[in-house]
Amino acid sequence: MSRDLGPFEADRIYQGDALEMMDAIPSGSVDLIVTDPPFAIDFRAQRMNYNRTGRHVLDGYREVLPDDYAEFTRCWIDEAFRVLSGSGSLYVFSGWNCLKDVLCCLDDAGFITLNHIIWKYQFGVFTRKKFVTSHYHILYAIKNPRRYTFNKVEHYPEDVWVINREYWKGKRKTPTKLPLELVRKILRFSSNPGDLVFDPFLGSGTVPVVSREMRRHFLGFEIVPEYFEFAEQRLRETLPRE
Ligand SMILES: C[S@@+](CC[C@H](N)C(=O)[O-])C[C@H]1O[C@@H](n2cnc3c(N)ncnc32)[C@H](O)[C@@H]1O
Repeated sequence: MSRDLGPFEADRIYQGDALEMMDAIPSGSVDLIVTDPPFAIDFRAQRMNYNRTGRHVLDGYREVLPDDYAEFTRCWIDEAFRVLSGSGSLYVFSGWNCLKDVLCCLDDAGFITLNHIIWKYQFGVFTRKKFVTSHYHILYAIKNPRRYTFNKVEHYPEDVWVINREYWKGKRKTPTKLPLELVRKILRFSSNPGDLVFDPFLGSGTVPVVSREMRRHFLGFEIVPEYFEFAEQRLRETLPRE
């Protein structure tokens, strides 16, 4: 792939702080960003939820403090706008607690939010005196309403997606992991083979894994060394399929 990615190479992931590393990506070099940033909630307290055996869940997930969340979000979303090509798109996952920060930062950066997708999954966190949360928000945003990729692979593509989380019974895992099917759907609609897909907050590496499967190029960052290695291992086991 001949695209200039500065110090980075396509089809590789890097361990480090996305806020520092995004700086070095040349402007306009990315076609699609799909990312699930930290949500400013305490995941250590929630490791045992979702019917998981705690010892299988990798430690060390890097969270952002609630007071720092707006600034953190502004930094990476401004950079996301810069690194995306003129026809690029962004899908950002958000829990409801910090959604307002994400929405404001998207607008302020110059993005046009086209859809507010609800991802409904099959289980949530146990609650005694409030409703159980069983959805995430996915904000689909673009730079230019006259030029962006939207492959209409479904006749009536709706903005509520019911997709089950994956159980990785007895396997090592990270505390948050997107279902492969969910990321496949995004890539099918908003990218083409050969495009470059970027995820600044990799976690277990679902976005590059699906990109490789679907013959898209990828780039990604993860700050926690154990998660980075976990993602690298998954990538080594993934072959192009479609
Ligand atoms: C919600 S998880 C991503 C999960 C991922 N989509 C998956 O399917 O596994 C967010 C990830 O961002 C990482 N992270 C937090 N701050 C970061 C930073 N400044 N730079 C890079 N990664 C960061 C966390 O360690 C965590 O693994």
